[in-house]
Amino acid sequence: MMRRQELDVLHESIRNCRLCPLHETRLNAVPGEGPYDARVLLIGEAPGAREDELGRPFVGRSGELLTHMIESIGLTRDEVFITSVLKSRPPNNRTPTKSEIEMCRPYVEKQIELVNPRVVVLLGGVAISSMVGPWSVSESHGQFFEAKGRTFFMTYHPAAALRFPKVKTLMAADFRILRSGLL
Ligand code: URA
Repeated sequence: MMRRQELDVLHESIRNCRLCPLHETRLNAVPGEGPYDARVLLIGEAPGAREDELGRPFVGRSGELLTHMIESIGLTRDEVFITSVLKSRPPNNRTPTKSEIEMCRPYVEKQIELVNPRVVVLLGGVAISSMVGPWSVSESHGQFFEAKGRTFFMTYHPAAALRFPKVKTLMAADFRILRSGLL
């Protein structure tokens, strides 16, 4: 099968996934979206209310800021692949549990394998701790990290940047570092 078809099949199984109890409360699973051969793949935490309604990643206020950050480094939103650690919304947007993260992990790992991006951008603490290690965002943001034969880049989650102006400034600076690393 071609890579793009494999990704379509994977996304269909994510839409039908019933591995964890979140399938009972979600409206739509959110597999993620973007070109099957994107150079940059971004990973958030979990779908929120708007994403759950539409079945698309980062379409609420966080998504607006994320799109802005992506454009600030000379890319467009439709050139990158966007997904999250969890594919289903946790009730009231609570933090994902360890077991939810483990159930969902094969999906994000398969997406990374199929898209095979130059860099995987981890947005916030949940993405960082579930993909590379138990680091806080504040000590690891703005850095590239090589692991499992891949290049990861760590930064803040856009929701944090919306809440705290200082974080927004730090996140914008991180994206400039990311841009230099992509040249
Ligand atoms: N926040 C995330 O982490 N992921 C989404 O898809 C939307 C908001």
